[in-house]
Amino acid sequence: MTTRPYIVGNWKMHGTRAMLAEARAIDRAAERLIKAEVAIAPPFTLIHATRKEANLIGIGAQDVHPADGGAHTGDVSAAMVKDAGAGFTIVGHSERRANHQETNELVKEKAEAAIAAGMSVIVCVGETEAERDSGEAESVVAKQLEGSLPTGDGVAEKVTVAYEPVWAIGTGRTPTVEDVGAMHRSIREKLVAIYGEEGSAVRILYGGSVKPDNAAELLAADEVGGALVGGASLTAESFLGIIIAAAELQDEKS
Ligand code: PGA
Repeated sequence: MTTRPYIVGNWKMHGTRAMLAEARAIDRAAERLIKAEVAIAPPFTLIHATRKEANLIGIGAQDVHPADGGAHTGDVSAAMVKDAGAGFTIVGHSERRANHQETNELVKEKAEAAIAAGMSVIVCVGETEAERDSGEAESVVAKQLEGSLPTGDGVAEKVTVAYEPVWAIGTGRTPTVEDVGAMHRSIREKLVAIYGEEGSAVRILYGGSVKPDNAAELLAADEVGGALVGGASLTAESFLGIIIAAAELQDEKS
C-alpha cells in the first residue's frame, strides 16, 4: 500500500489539444516530485493524446457507461477509455449526479464495469449545502457510500473515494479542517464496515476549491490521502503548487 498523497486533476469539460502543453509540464515536474502520486482526468477527447505526452503521471477518464458496448449513442465504455490509455476513471461526480440524474445504483454499476475492465475508480460523494446546514452531511455521505461503492472480492484495492462537498466545488469556499477531518473519519468507518480490514487502506481524497494556498492545511487533515482538484488543475503552474504542498507534507511526515 502506498502512503504517498494522491493528487488528481479533474479537467472537466475543459481542454483541446492546446492544453497538452500543460500535461507535459505537469509530467516533467512529476519526475522530480516522486513524493506524491499525480494523475489527471482530461476529457475523453484528450485521453489518448495525453497518455502519449505524459509518461509518469496517471491518466484517467471522468466517467464511463456501465455497459461494455452497444446502442448507446454518445456514450463511452470502460474498455474504450482503457484502450485510449486511461488507467482509472472518476465515477459519481456531483456534476454528473446533478446534470445527468445519476443514482447511487448507476454509479455503482459504472464503478464495477470499470473494475471489470481492469481499471481503478475514484468514487465521488458529498453533501449539498442544505444537507450540511441541516446536520445531515455525514448520514447523506454514508448512504452514498453504501449505494455507490463497488462490491465483490478484491475490489477495495481498486477504489479511491473522493469527498467533495457540492457547495465547495468551484466556489472558493471550503469546509474547516476540523469538518474535513470529521467527515473523513466517518468515511473511514464506513469503508471498514463495507470492506472489512481492506477498507482501512482505501484512499480518501478531499475535493472542492483546493488551491495552492490551502492545499497544505486540507491535505494535513485527518484521513485525507490526497486531493481531487478541478479549476486549479487546469494550468501546470497552479496544479504544481498543490503537488509541491503535498510533497512537502510527505517530507515532514518522513
Ligand atoms: P474545484 O473542483 O477544485 O474547481 O472546486 C473540484 C471537483 O469538482 O472535482
